Amino acid sequence: MARTKATRATTKSSSETAAEIAAEISEKVLAASARAVCAQAYSPYSHVRVGAALLAADGRVFTGCNVENASFGLTTCAERTVVCKAVSEGAREFVTIAIATAGARALPPCGACRQVLHEFAPKLRVLLVGARGKPRAVRLDQLLPSAFGPDHLRRKR
Ligand code: THU
Repeated sequence: MARTKATRATTKSSSETAAEIAAEISEKVLAASARAVCAQAYSPYSHVRVGAALLAADGRVFTGCNVENASFGLTTCAERTVVCKAVSEGAREFVTIAIATAGARALPPCGACRQVLHEFAPKLRVLLVGARGKPRAVRLDQLLPSAFGPDHLRRKR
């Protein structure tokens, strides 16, 4: 059956809406996963709980928390925990990371974590998730402009 122009337009816009809704739902799930993994944080010194959920391009979601150390300097942030977990499982392409804290104010990733995320996904979507309210979305290249990365080590032929 031939579809009218109007029907096609309706179908197109409703499928776009469905895609937008699906993206919104998956970001809600990602934010909820980041919030949930805060419970695993090992942070007896700072008492700051951080959870990260990383969506890989293949659809897998990895989670990680901060793991502190009595030496302080050997503390691993949630973002670096989750990147190491994901890469160890064979994922290297990432779409979005949600970073959550138990506190009301969302925490931005520290400089070291920005650099580690840049290694794999310079344009990563970053969702900053507080205990309440809507997550704030930023792009990693806004958080780490003019970044040093793998390209700077590639030899010119
Ligand atoms: N922390 C993270 O997990 N991610 C960040 O990007 C910032 C800081 C953790 C490390 C430490 O356990 C606590 O927050 C306080 O600095």
